[in-house]
Amino acid sequence: MSEQQFDVVVIGGGPGGYVAAIRAAQLGFKVACIDEATNAKGGPALGGTCTNVGCIPSKALLQSSEHFEHAGHAFKEHGIDVAGLSLNLPQMLKRKDSVVKANNDGIVYLFKKNKVSFFHGRGTLAGKAGEGFTVNVSGPTTDTLTAKNVIVATGSNPRELPGTPFDEKIVLSNTGALAIDAVPGKLGVIGAGVIGLEMGSVWRRVGAKVTVLEGLPAFLGAVDQQIAKEAQKAFTKQGLEIHLGVKIGNIVKGDNSVTVEYADSTGAAQTAVFDRLIVSIGRVPNTIGLGFESVGLQLDERGFIAVDDECRTAVPGIWAVGDVVRGPMLAHKAEEEGVAVAERIAGQHGHVNFNTIPWVIYTSPEIAWVGRTEEQLKKDGVAYKAGTFPFMANGRARALGDTTGMVKVIADAATDEILGVHIVGPVASELISEAVVAMEFKASSEDIARICHAHPTLSEATKEAALAVDKRSLNF
Ligand code: FAD
Ligand code: NAI
Repeated sequence: MSEQQFDVVVIGGGPGGYVAAIRAAQLGFKVACIDEATNAKGGPALGGTCTNVGCIPSKALLQSSEHFEHAGHAFKEHGIDVAGLSLNLPQMLKRKDSVVKANNDGIVYLFKKNKVSFFHGRGTLAGKAGEGFTVNVSGPTTDTLTAKNVIVATGSNPRELPGTPFDEKIVLSNTGALAIDAVPGKLGVIGAGVIGLEMGSVWRRVGAKVTVLEGLPAFLGAVDQQIAKEAQKAFTKQGLEIHLGVKIGNIVKGDNSVTVEYADSTGAAQTAVFDRLIVSIGRVPNTIGLGFESVGLQLDERGFIAVDDECRTAVPGIWAVGDVVRGPMLAHKAEEEGVAVAERIAGQHGHVNFNTIPWVIYTSPEIAWVGRTEEQLKKDGVAYKAGTFPFMANGRARALGDTTGMVKVIADAATDEILGVHIVGPVASELISEAVVAMEFKASSEDIARICHAHPTLSEATKEAALAVDKRSLNF
């Protein structure tokens, strides 16, 4: 049992928390970060949902499964015959675990480098202490920390379907979906959102028959619908069976299978039997049992910690960032908020531009966007012009053998300022950065159209889409 005083205590060591801790330490504060996640050996597993059961392991499996699929089909077209191709799933999972561990260890190193004190255990707020707050830690050791500033970065948990709890054997959250030990013959996925599409893609590529059941009538309703339709076409061609507008009914779990009753989009009753079921219907903020009542911390109407635009709670000195507060549940959004809060504590003007946060779905083709969609602009009554350019007409995409999709640039009809960029296609995740930079600097479509892009690159499609805004693309 120890009692220690800090300037800043961060509860949660995910992308929001660990980055806030590092930035606060860089600014000269004495900083502690508390995280309760534990690895298979009982040691700390820093990095949060993102590192342990989110961004990193999903991308590791997406990469491995894509290699497997390419070796099976795409290599042939390149003149490479692969004989005796087989899947070593235990090795694929082992590699994923080692990628996770490298990231866990990386954060331990960064904490040491930046002199952030790490406490492995559960942190709970335990009332006011002088001008600050007390935070108790219970883990391998029991500690009491005090600090004038506390940053809550406790993240989120997967949402359960009422009456169907996760058992991570048959009914899987993201945690179980990343660790299935044998390829299921039939895999059901409820929710055609980001997790449903990414994890559905992984298991389809390695041989599962995947059926995705989505409640809403539109596919990827938040995505520009021209892009979403192109993606849906590609996923369907790959064999992902997607049913939109369904209403999930009874779910009955057996020892080795699960039966899902649902009404399809016409209202007709359907029954499907799956070997495994991934439920990916969104996530809920992690706010239970954190001692909020001891300091009077309030939640908003949706159950998130209530904060203003600058991540201040109603209790001066307590801040909250990342998935536990409003806004997109994305690692880079959490990080930006963490940095901005550390800078605000130091009296600086930390800033997060919510209009230029990029979104990426790491399927094949990848989907990435920043800014507003055509549907949003119509709803907002903004006059715009749009230009698209298909990867089919891009030399590098042809050389890669990956010509699905397009780049779409939307600009203000009067000022030409870029209002949104939407991409479906190869490495859209990397291509979107150019659009984010352009929008951050309030560039016009003409600016991108006049910038020299290397040839042959996929990024030429962005330049061509910008040229297409004024109907003057050169290669299509
Ligand atoms: P978290 O990462 O959830 O971290 C919270 C941490 O707090 C956890 O380590 C938890 O153990 C700890 N904690 C909670 N309560 C306590 C307590 N009382 N005491 C001590 N510790 C506590 N986002 C992207 O941007 N890109 C992606 O590719 C991406 N892929 C994803 C894939 C999946 C399958 C999932 C589930 C999510 C993905 N996300 C992705 C979302 C991303 O993981 C989250 O937005 C991000 O992790 C949020 O960061 P955070 O710091 O707010 O919370
Ligand atoms: P999501 O919000 O992306 O998608 C959930 C889907 O489930 C929606 O399409 C919704 O309409 C549907 N749904 C909800 N209730 C339903 C029901 N009862 N029946 C049928 N369908 C239903 O949530 P998801 O996929 O769980 O991911 C959670 C969050 O994690 C994402 O919103 C994102 O913020 C983050 N994430 C980000 C990734 C990335 O950046 N690449 C990857 C994975 C997750």
